[in-house]
Amino acid sequence: MSRIVRADDEGLDRAVARLRAGELVAFPTETVYGLGADAGDPAALRRIFACKGRPADHPLIVHVRGVGDLARWIAPLPESAISLARAFWPGPLTIVGRAAAGVSEVLTGGHPTVAVRSPAHPLAAALLERFGGALAAPSANRFGRLSPTRAAHVADEFPDEELLILDGGATQVGLESTIVDLSGAEPRVLRPGRIAATDLADVLGRPVEVAPRDTEAPSAPGRLDSHYAPGAPLRLVPPDELGATLRRGDAALLRTAPEPGEGIACRRLPSDPDGYGRGLYAALRSLDEAGPRAIVVEAPPDGAAWHAIRDRLARAAAPRPPAHAEGSEP
Ligand code: TXA
Ligand code: MG
Repeated sequence: MSRIVRADDEGLDRAVARLRAGELVAFPTETVYGLGADAGDPAALRRIFACKGRPADHPLIVHVRGVGDLARWIAPLPESAISLARAFWPGPLTIVGRAAAGVSEVLTGGHPTVAVRSPAHPLAAALLERFGGALAAPSANRFGRLSPTRAAHVADEFPDEELLILDGGATQVGLESTIVDLSGAEPRVLRPGRIAATDLADVLGRPVEVAPRDTEAPSAPGRLDSHYAPGAPLRLVPPDELGATLRRGDAALLRTAPEPGEGIACRRLPSDPDGYGRGLYAALRSLDEAGPRAIVVEAPPDGAAWHAIRDRLARAAAPRPPAHAEGSEP
């Protein structure tokens, strides 16, 4: 059984003891909850893959205390990595660079690169400080499902695991970190997030391109499209077509549209992108719980501030190949 514990002194000590013993601990970050393990312990890292049902070539993000830890993971360390870390850490930015010697292949999924970030959530920072090392942590959900933004979501994902879950309440950003790849000739955003490509470009003093959606993981082109998905099929529909689309038994996720008719479960999210992103996964989870025929989502507006939200919704709406359930190659 998963156990949610208060993240006081005692809770943090228990978490550290478990991590030192090579076990997993779920903890809050400012983006989503992570499923953490000692980043230097290959056996513990393998437990993450087993617990999530994640393919072994799908690399993990290392969580570190700060800029000072970067050189331990990325080598050679580009100047651009230091500039971006100084500007945005601690915070929702993951930096990908060439993996330094000694970085476990379990962590990198056998790729020559590694992903590193320093989380801003005070409990994540406190845990890293007490642990005194680095924690590998993917989002604390089973592979292909929605990321958890509350401790109870993590418990729901892993009902049969003896998992310690540090409770940090609802997460503040609600969407996963921006991932920027600095291992190539030009910086590239692999996954959009709260920190925009233009924010990165401002710091670097040069343009930052955004990779097409299916290239997020180096070895898995196309496979990641149907990711971040609830159980029910999800459809994105323009606001003015909602009325004609919704059927009894559907669930609706709205922003501006009027309430639908009877027999349609419905949730409304704030109309600003920060508030919408914060509440998105919890709203999808709660709509999904009732087992609707489909979750119909009022399509979000265009514009840079909605980029990460459109990205996650498009992934959730993407067709799901049967192979996806097993996490195997298409
Ligand atoms: O906000 C976040 O980043 C959360 C919190 C817990 O920190 N973590 C997270 O981890 O979203 P995860 O494992 O669910 O997603 C990590 C993403 C994956 O899409 C993976 O392909 C990508 O990071 N990634 C990891 N290492 C990479 C690498 N070396 N090159 C390219 N992409 C990488
Ligand atoms: Mg994830």
